[in-house]
Amino acid sequence: MAPTQPARKVHASPPARRIWDGFARSRQYATSTSDWFVSRGHYAETSEALVRVSPEAFEQYQEHTVGGEFEPGSTLVMLHRSRVDRKPGRVHVMQREPSGWSYLVLEADGTIVEQGALPGCAGCHADAVSDSVFGPPRSQAPE
Ligand code: HEC
Repeated sequence: MAPTQPARKVHASPPARRIWDGFARSRQYATSTSDWFVSRGHYAETSEALVRVSPEAFEQYQEHTVGGEFEPGSTLVMLHRSRVDRKPGRVHVMQREPSGWSYLVLEADGTIVEQGALPGCAGCHADAVSDSVFGPPRSQAPE
């Protein structure tokens, strides 16, 4: 037996897996549509989506048109599932900060994959209806 404990091995710590702190709350948010719809913007139309909207932003989201803007604190959470087997996919989040939108990508269980002013998200959302937000699907309304 060695008289002293060996120096503790230093491991490169794996990236911390952290659940987004708004995830549980967002499950209570109302959905913008009564049912899942085919996402045209994400995952090359292989997913269906459901958008949950924080209470103070709900009306704004439902009526979103050109010129519409969201207050800081507004949170939009888009759930995805496979169109083939309904397996839950990643969750896309937009959170309004005073300085602009913060984007998050989560695993289906809420674990953060990446977050921030993600350029891949912001670039396409810059072409949205207004304030980088597309709003509920329009083309699915009956003719
Ligand atoms: C190629 C364009 C494109 C990219 C890239 C994109 N989105 Fe979207 N996003 C859309 C479209 C279009 C919608 C409207 C719903 C639909 O049909 O997919 C949408 C809807 C959303 C919504 C619901 C709020 C809204 O705008 O109505 C959130 C939240 C969202 N996206 C987050 C993200 C995040 C996070 C990323 C980056 C990981 C991202 N998006 C990347 C096109 C895009």
